[in-house]
Order: sequence, then structure tokens, then C-alpha cells
Amino acid sequence: MLLKKEPRIRSLALGAIVASALLTAGFVETAPAYAKTADAQPAVLNASAVAVADKYAADTAEQIFKQGGNAVDAAVAIAFTLAVTYPEAGNIGGGGFMTLYVDHRPYFLDYRERAPLSATRNMYLDDKGEVIKGMSLYGHRAVGVPGTVDGMWEAQKRFGKLKWKQVLAPAIKYAQDGFEVDDQLVKRRDDASKEFAGKTNFDLYFGGMKAGQVFKQPDLAMTLQRIADKGAKGFYEGETANLIAKSMEGHGLITTRDLKDYKAVWRQPITASWNGYRVITAPPPSSGGVGLVQLLKMKADIKDKFQDVPLDSAQYIHLVAEIEKRVFADRAQYLGDPDFYKVPVAQLINDDYILKRAQEVNPDTPSDTKSVQPGLGTSMPEKAETTHFSVVDKWGNAVSNTYTINGYFGSGVIAEGTGIVLNDEMDDFASKPGVPNMFGVVGSDANSIAPKKRPLSSMTPTILTKDDKVAMVIGTPGGSRIFTSIFQVITNVYDFNMPLGDAVGATRFHHQLLPPNTIFQEPYHQLDADVIKQLEDKGYKFTMQGFNGDIQAIRIDGDKPEPMSDPRGRGVSRVIR
Ligand code: DON
Repeated sequence: MLLKKEPRIRSLALGAIVASALLTAGFVETAPAYAKTADAQPAVLNASAVAVADKYAADTAEQIFKQGGNAVDAAVAIAFTLAVTYPEAGNIGGGGFMTLYVDHRPYFLDYRERAPLSATRNMYLDDKGEVIKGMSLYGHRAVGVPGTVDGMWEAQKRFGKLKWKQVLAPAIKYAQDGFEVDDQLVKRRDDASKEFAGKTNFDLYFGGMKAGQVFKQPDLAMTLQRIADKGAKGFYEGETANLIAKSMEGHGLITTRDLKDYKAVWRQPITASWNGYRVITAPPPSSGGVGLVQLLKMKADIKDKFQDVPLDSAQYIHLVAEIEKRVFADRAQYLGDPDFYKVPVAQLINDDYILKRAQEVNPDTPSDTKSVQPGLGTSMPEKAETTHFSVVDKWGNAVSNTYTINGYFGSGVIAEGTGIVLNDEMDDFASKPGVPNMFGVVGSDANSIAPKKRPLSSMTPTILTKDDKVAMVIGTPGGSRIFTSIFQVITNVYDFNMPLGDAVGATRFHHQLLPPNTIFQEPYHQLDADVIKQLEDKGYKFTMQGFNGDIQAIRIDGDKPEPMSDPRGRGVSRVIR
């Protein structure tokens, strides 16, 4: 299978308040207030480091650090660069989440897409109440209101040291002058082209892209230039907004009003203590942070059952699948946009609750799927492409960022005249309770469609700290596989003491309650035939999936950052002095 309010925390310093007042009157290029404190921070690492999805993004980060930028400047510049050079997932037409650790404090920025104002609960159902196949995946009606540009604007305005135009410059250059196209990108373009054939204008824009040749995107260069000149307004208002709305006319729902109303939100990250570390991760509208904390803690709670159980043995896979079953039962019932649905986060990550769930794990045989119900009483979805990057600067600040247009090349729609690839994030809503989405996960009322609501996500940009210092920055694409992949890499490192490269490269597997007792494996590393046989004897089934993530992680040992890109992708990790 191809995987395919809280109140806004605006603790800006006085200078930034003045700056934002000026900004409401029109864009003014100002050095943000944060720059002053960042300069005062002593260097605590011997270098900055990045783990990113391609070499162009690594070059951009190097350029930004050499100009004196911090992790946030580098992250924002990477995000804009990947929108050009990694168009299957990098984006300005989608949305995402950024977990930050700045000046020893954790932050979380939600710039997830929102449903358009005219979206309705049953917009993907026919008159018999059945889901219309593909409608939330391809074409204009699949598109949510993009959040990436406002997210980058908010992050850079609050914490960046450089000027906004400096962080846009590398992306504009790649769009204008072009970049050399990688084989993997062409392969993904070919797959997408088949999928979108006859449905969207995808080939008009990407049809001419050839491996090894330079690909230029002049429309996108002009869009990025408007963003560089006018800030977020260069996307959400004026020419760019008008062009997006025009491309929607007669096809989709997004209007200039939807764009003008879009706002990224600063939220409280989920934080939890685990194994001597503080885990800082994604709150709702992601299910990932809750899922990751439940997985890590349940495993720790039943460490006696894991005692001497080797990695990737039949018993190990069985125990992890048992834990995953319980996590996915909760996910389907309770998780959604917290601005619309009261998500019981505190209860879901409460130690006593997690212990009780862990004690239900049957060490011998798979628990009957139907018997695994949501644990807090009386029940979500996702396509594949997303990308993650991890950044640390020498001052000890970190950014863990996952953003997405959902499937490879999103909805396949490019807004005419803008070069913007628009997302198909609407598929992450539950079009109908209990009907699985692209990732095979189901949802409930918590994740039904409503105007301005954000679809439930699995993206889990995560930072681990120890003694108030960053120890690890990690994340990956993979839809509902995201937090089970991150869980496996974290436990490979800290429970199995594996070097980071081995931990990232190791076999990964996945179970998500439904389909019953089904373990997904990956072509990159298949499980041992004996192990499969032992598990089949217990009642498990095995399914191959085409994609199992693209982890980008940085581990910090003393004052040395060690970045690592997943061998499954075309990522690049770099230490920058
Ligand atoms: O937000 C989510 O969870 C999904 N839209 C992410 C999609 C994804 O990771 C695709 N990557 N393989």
C-alpha cells in the first residue's frame, strides 16, 4: 500500500508588539525583538546541525547559519526551499506542526490546514450516504485552507534573528534558476501522474520534469517573491490569494475570505517524563503526541514483559502490537481539533490510566480486536506525503518540523499562475464515522468535517530534553505510521542502546488495531521468515506496505550534535560549523 483555541500565546517582547502594530499597516522589514536575546545566548554546542529531506535544503540551512541565523531562521528557510525542490511534500500549499525549544523553553506552533467556510459534514457522501471514492483525495474539493506560510511567518517573526527576506532568498533562487531533479522525485512524479490522470492539471506543471535536468518554476518564484515582499499577506491577500480563489471557482470551496481568515495557532505542546527525559511533542489536532507518549509509557510500564525479549523477535512484535492496539482504539474515539471537540488529553496521558491499559496487554496471544475499546469509556483518518526536518543551532535551540500536503503532490491541483501545489488534507477528516481513510484508520464525531475545523493528524514533531538541554530532535512522514515509527527509533536508541544510524535504519513494523491482527511490514527491511511464521501461528496476518517513513533525527551527545537521515529517502544530514 502506498501510504499515501487554545488562546494564542503571544508573549512577544515590546519591540515585537510595536513591530506587529506597524505590520498591520503594511509590511515593514524589521529585525524581530527576539534577535536581541539570541545574540546574548552563549554557544553550548560545537556546531549547528540539520537532518532534512534533500541536499538543497541542507545547503540552504548552511547558508542561513553562515549568515548568523538561528535554528528557527534555518527551519523557515528549509521549509520554503523544500516547497521548491521537494514538491511531492515540501509545500506552501499545505500545513503542518512545529515543535520548538528556544532559550530552554518548549513551544508548539499549529499551522495545520482548516476546512473552508462552506465545508459541510457530509460533503464527501452521495445521496445514499456512502463515501464518494476519491473526492477527498483528488482535485479542488480535497483542498484545505493552507497554513504553511502563516506558520513560517509566525515562527520567524517570534524567534528568528535574520530578516524575513533573507530566509526566503534561497527558495526564490531555486524556483527562478532551477535545481537538478533527482531520480526519486521523477519516480514519485510518474506515480502521481498516473493517479491524477484526467482529474487535475498536474501534468501541465510537472509533466516536463526530467531526471538529471534543471527544473525551473517561474510562477512559484513570483509567488515566493510576493511573500518575501509582503510577509504572510503576500500569500493570504492580494494577487496570490486572488489567483488561488480564481482557480477554485466552479471546482472547489476556498475563497479569498477563507485565505484572509486563516491563522496559525501557538498551543501548549504535550510534555511528559519518560526514562529520565522530557518528551516535548505534538498536541491535538495531532493524535501523534498522545500516541507517542502512550506507546513509550506503556512499554516502560510492562518492562518486565519486555525483559530479555530481543528486538524484532516474534514476542517483541506481539507485545508492541498489543500496545499499539490500545493506542489506536483511543485515537479513533477521542482525537480531533481541540477548538471544536473537547479532547481529554490529560486523561489520555495520565500515568495511572496508561498503566491500567498496559496491564491489559496479553503476553501470550493477540487480544481480540473487538474487545479493545477506547479506554476512557464510549468512536478517524489520513494519503502519503509529508516531510520532516530537524534542526539544532549552536546556542542549543531546536526545531522539529513536520509539514504536509497529505498525498504525494497533494490533491494534484496547482493553482494556476502561482506554482502552488495544493494539499488534499480534507481526507484526514472522517468523511463518515467508521469508514477508513487512505491510511486505513477510522474516526468519529471528534474528527467530523466543520467549517474552519482542522482535520486530525498523526504528525509528531518531537524534541527530547534532559536537564533542560536538547537530547534528541526527531520526526518522520508516514501518516498513521508516524508515531509508531518514532516510538521504534526512540526505543531502539534508549532501550536497546543502538547508535543513531542503526536505530534509524533498523526494520520497522506497524499495527493499528484495524485491520484485525494485521502487521504491516516494509520492503526496506523485511522481517525474518521464522518470526513471521511464529506470529502467523499466533493468529497474525502480514501485509507489505510501500512506504515506512523517512526519519530525520539529531541526537546530541555532550556538545556534539549527530544528525541522521533515514536511508529510506534522499535526505541529507549535515553538521555546520
Ligand atoms: O497529517 C497527517 O497525519 C497526514 N496527512 C500525514 C501524511 C503523511 O505523513 C504522508 N506520508 N507518508
